[in-house]
Amino acid sequence: MPWHLDSWKDKPLAQEVAYDDPAAVASVVAKLSQLPPLVTSWEVERLKASIAEAQAGKRFVLQGGDCAETLLDCQPGIIANKLKILLQMSMVLVHAGKKPVVRIGRLAGQYAKPRSKPTEERDGVSLPSYFGDLVNQPEFTADARRAHPRALLDAYSHAALTLNFVRSLTAAGFADLHHPEYWDLGFFSRSGLTRELRDEYMQTTERLSEALRFMEALGETTVDELSRVDFYTSHEGLNLHYEAAQTRQVPRRDGHYLLTTHMPWIGERTRHLGGAHVEFFRGIQNVVGVKLGPKVDPQDAVTLLTCLNPTNEAGKLVCITRMGAAEVERALPPLVSAVTAAGLRVLWMCDPMHGNTQATATGIKTRSFDDILLEIERSFAVHADAKTHLGGIHFELTGEDVTECIGGGLTEADLDKNYASVCDPRLNYRQALEMAFRVGSWIRRASAPRQSPTRA
Ligand code: PEP
Ligand code: CO
Repeated sequence: MPWHLDSWKDKPLAQEVAYDDPAAVASVVAKLSQLPPLVTSWEVERLKASIAEAQAGKRFVLQGGDCAETLLDCQPGIIANKLKILLQMSMVLVHAGKKPVVRIGRLAGQYAKPRSKPTEERDGVSLPSYFGDLVNQPEFTADARRAHPRALLDAYSHAALTLNFVRSLTAAGFADLHHPEYWDLGFFSRSGLTRELRDEYMQTTERLSEALRFMEALGETTVDELSRVDFYTSHEGLNLHYEAAQTRQVPRRDGHYLLTTHMPWIGERTRHLGGAHVEFFRGIQNVVGVKLGPKVDPQDAVTLLTCLNPTNEAGKLVCITRMGAAEVERALPPLVSAVTAAGLRVLWMCDPMHGNTQATATGIKTRSFDDILLEIERSFAVHADAKTHLGGIHFELTGEDVTECIGGGLTEADLDKNYASVCDPRLNYRQALEMAFRVGSWIRRASAPRQSPTRA
């Protein structure tokens, strides 16, 4: 079936937003489609080339950020802290894996959230659920929960402001791997980092700077590649009015580019074959992520991935598996083997967050640090057995000192100290950094040359 910019409108739209003024939506979309893009096709193609290299095991991908970004969080300190923790983690991964790391923020557009229920009930009152700042507001009042078309424009401008700041920071040397001291968070010394973790981090930065100086002294050509910091954005492509408004053709390239972000992904709840989201995303040139949970049927996944990438283009697809620690050993192997048997080119990435959400006895949504670790460790093992390659990790995290996940220094009793997420629980600074060291050790092990059997 031919694809066109509106062909998604003829398909069932999961997680549809109930706008009560369609004319206002149309006028906002018309305005959005005239505004400049947030990213360019050059950057999108460059990311695709990097993902193709990650598929071949030559790079590792770190993707992370908030579950739900908010307009209120569009502040210099919060944005810089998010960038800093992602840079710190990537540096740990570069050091451990000895390969370049592609950094992708859940940032500058992660404003739309799928919900398990369209409405929320409190004390006998029923209101629409909060669908992210792209749609409505989290306060439990009728006006806040109304879907305001104007929010699409507000989100676009806040994404632009965020991206502008991130671009300035990374372009001007702040992100240079030679100067990791720029990325210390204000609370680095009092963030609850254990002495061990702090020492390990300091030693890593020192060793890496030394290695960079050494390679430069030798005139090593890979040093630029290793130390240049590219930073890309991503978000769930949920609200197709927003995404379609910024999707266009560009001079001298074929096809359509979605220019709200470098890498949109399709969520677990909207990846139905025959649905509007898959229809829309099969027609764009960007790298596309697909979340795959434990209920996925491996053959359905093959059909879905083929539909999204019919030419089997390298660098185009990222399979973000989010099985849960308890399910990953059952659900991941058949998926990996079906995709491999079909000869599909994908980057395997593990999201160890969304299959490990739980509620405490008092109803607080949390995640266990140990479950998160276990899902990653088991995913590495599954890929090692299948002789495939786990090439990326997807985290929900923040550079702030929040208390949302249990373990890595926090207990259940700490959760109410600074629980700030409007959606899912994120790793805090210390937990995220600790995670990077653990992931680093598994990457190192996975990349170690295999022992070849000795001949008699
Ligand atoms: C998310 O990434 O915030 C999310 C909702 O994930 P999933 O679609 O995997 O549930
Ligand atoms: Co989430």
